[in-house]
Amino acid sequence: MNTKAFFKLSYGVYIVSANYENKDGGCVINTLAQVTSSPARLSIALNKNNETLRLIEGAGSFSAVVLSEDVDMELIKTFGFQSGRDAEKFEQASYERDLNGNPYPTEGIAARFSCKVTDRLDVDTHVILIGEVTEADIPSDSQVLTYADYHSKKKGTTPKNAPSYQESQTKGFRCSVCGYILEADELPEDFICPVCGKDASYFEKID
Ligand SMILES: Cc1cc2nc3c(=O)[nH]c(=O)nc-3n(C[C@H](O)[C@H](O)[C@H](O)COP(=O)(O)O)c2cc1C
Repeated sequence: MNTKAFFKLSYGVYIVSANYENKDGGCVINTLAQVTSSPARLSIALNKNNETLRLIEGAGSFSAVVLSEDVDMELIKTFGFQSGRDAEKFEQASYERDLNGNPYPTEGIAARFSCKVTDRLDVDTHVILIGEVTEADIPSDSQVLTYADYHSKKKGTTPKNAPSYQESQTKGFRCSVCGYILEADELPEDFICPVCGKDASYFEKID
């Protein structure tokens, strides 16, 4: 199997979020798609380890924003490279709430949706949720961030929890948090990951 074929799939970059039992949370995903038009429904795929899945299933609803190409990488670091079990992500972002009471980031977004969860499919490591759209809005005329541009222009990486994650063939040192790879023979002691900001102790040698 040529696993590079998976790199030919196109996606956007999104943040899905919810509030459950007074806890706000959310995470970056690339696996959002429209599945029907009438009624309008979206699908999302979430890793079972993600706190966001617990919150969305508890709430029975979720908010989803489409990130714009001018999004601050800090927002992606906040929502894509740490768990809501360890951090209050929405304290680090400006946000509003939808009619279901779910928070959503308001900066660096090109569109937003609110959904009620209607269906669930267990796919081993992940759960696919179907959400019926109850609100949709275009808060700015920004261009959307594609998954390809996230990698090529913003130098972003994909952590292991994402369904599209692939092991790298490159030699060097890999950040155990975000997957960033430093191609070098030696890892400087004061090295800081340019993607997620972790120090050299989070890096592991790959060869
Ligand atoms: C570009 C990108 C795409 C991602 N796509 C997904 C995805 O589709 N599904 C998923 O479960 N996690 C995905 N992730 C990983 C989660 O955002 C990440 O594991 C997050 O820390 C989970 O936080 P939580 O535990 O608060 O839910 C992605 C991360 C990035 C940076």
